[in-house]
Amino acid sequence: MELFTKNCRYIDLQQIYDKGDGIINIAEESNQIPFNIKRVYSITGLKKNSDSRGHHAHKELQQVIFCINGSFKLIVNDGLNEEEVILNTPQKGVYLGEELWHAMSDFSANCIILVLASDLYKEADYIRDFNEFKTYIKKID
Ligand code: TYD
Repeated sequence: MELFTKNCRYIDLQQIYDKGDGIINIAEESNQIPFNIKRVYSITGLKKNSDSRGHHAHKELQQVIFCINGSFKLIVNDGLNEEEVILNTPQKGVYLGEELWHAMSDFSANCIILVLASDLYKEADYIRDFNEFKTYIKKID
């Protein structure tokens, strides 16, 4: 299955079923991950009724987002198309390219999110207003 939203696609990790007892999920730069990984962060402590997160786009940052435990809903919007994805396995992530609005919600009680990012945290790279995002992508297209 493919995603039709611009700058966005599924990323499948390599899996090794280690002696039938545990699974290794492998993300390597240049192989599964299409950028140099400069930052890794996780989101933990999520509850079933936690607020939605995200609601922003990045001007240049690229990320791959995974759900390594439990499940959550990811919404991606390129300014024209919007898609919803349920992430519920450590093996399958979503590449979030630049200029892509995204939000996460509907966390399961035990949800753990893992994100690999192409750059360090830079607040100046965020667009946190949806109308501003639409104006921004019109200008650069
Ligand atoms: P934000 O990216 O807005 O969270 P989310 O998209 O999950 O809702 O980040 C929340 C806060 O944490 C914000 O004040 C910025 C800060 N932050 C950092 O300082 N470094 C980081 O690497 C990240 C991801 C966030």
